[in-house]
Amino acid sequence: MNKKGFIFDLDGVIVDTAKYHFLAWRKLANGLGIDFTHEENEQLKGVSRVRSLEKILEWGGKTLSKEEFTSLMAKKNEEYLGYISKMDASEILPDVSKVLDFLEAKHQAVALGSASKNARPILEKVSLLEKFNAIVDGNDVTKAKPDPEVFLIGAKLLDMQPQDCVVFEDSVAGVQAANTANMISIGIGEKDVLHEADYIFKDFTEMSQEFVEAIISGNVTKKIN
Ligand code: BG6
Ligand code: MG
Repeated sequence: MNKKGFIFDLDGVIVDTAKYHFLAWRKLANGLGIDFTHEENEQLKGVSRVRSLEKILEWGGKTLSKEEFTSLMAKKNEEYLGYISKMDASEILPDVSKVLDFLEAKHQAVALGSASKNARPILEKVSLLEKFNAIVDGNDVTKAKPDPEVFLIGAKLLDMQPQDCVVFEDSVAGVQAANTANMISIGIGEKDVLHEADYIFKDFTEMSQEFVEAIISGNVTKKIN
C-alpha cells in the first residue's frame, strides 16, 4: 500500500518555537542563579515542561517545594505564551508548508506528535491545524519523550502500523522515541547532535521531493540502530 504515516514534532520542526522555549527557560533559570549553555539546552528539547524544570534544577543542584515547582512552571509558560501570542504563518519553518501540501495531495496520513501542551493554539495561530489528520500533544500523554508513547498514539490514531511511520524530529529525545517505536527517524537539524536518526537533514529545504516519494513507496527503510 502506498500510504505511510508521517508524524511531525512541532517545536523546532514545524515552527521556530525552540528559541522561545530556550529564552523562557533561561530567564527562569537565571532568576534562580542557574545558567545553562546551548549544548545543555539540547537536552531540554522534546522533553516535557515538568522534566525540563527537573533537569534545570539538577544542573543547579537546587530543590524546590512542590508549590514552588508548580508556580515556576506556570511562570515559564506565561513568559512563553508572551512570545507565541505574536506568532503568525511567517514563523513556519522553510518548506514545511510545501511538504505538508505534497503529503495532502498524495493522500498520506499526517499526524502531529508533540510534547507541548500549547501545540493546538500554535497550529491555529500559524493556520496549519487542518493539515493534520491526528494531533497528539502534551495533554494526551503520560510519559515524556524519549518514551515512544506520543508517536505510538499517533500511529494508532492514523490507523497505521509503527513500522509504516516516519517521524520528523529536531530533538535527541524525540529521535530516540521514534527509534524505540520502530519508526523511521528523520532528524531535522545538526548531524553531530542528531546522529542517532536514520536520516538527517538540516531543514526541509534539503529534503527532496524524490525522498518523500521514496518514503511513500517504501524505498526508504529504517537503518539498524
Ligand atoms: C517540546 C519542546 O516540544 O515541548 C520543549 O521541545 C518543551 O522545549 C515541551 O518544554 C513542552 O512544551 P509546553 O509548551 O507544554 O511547555
Ligand atoms: Mg522539537
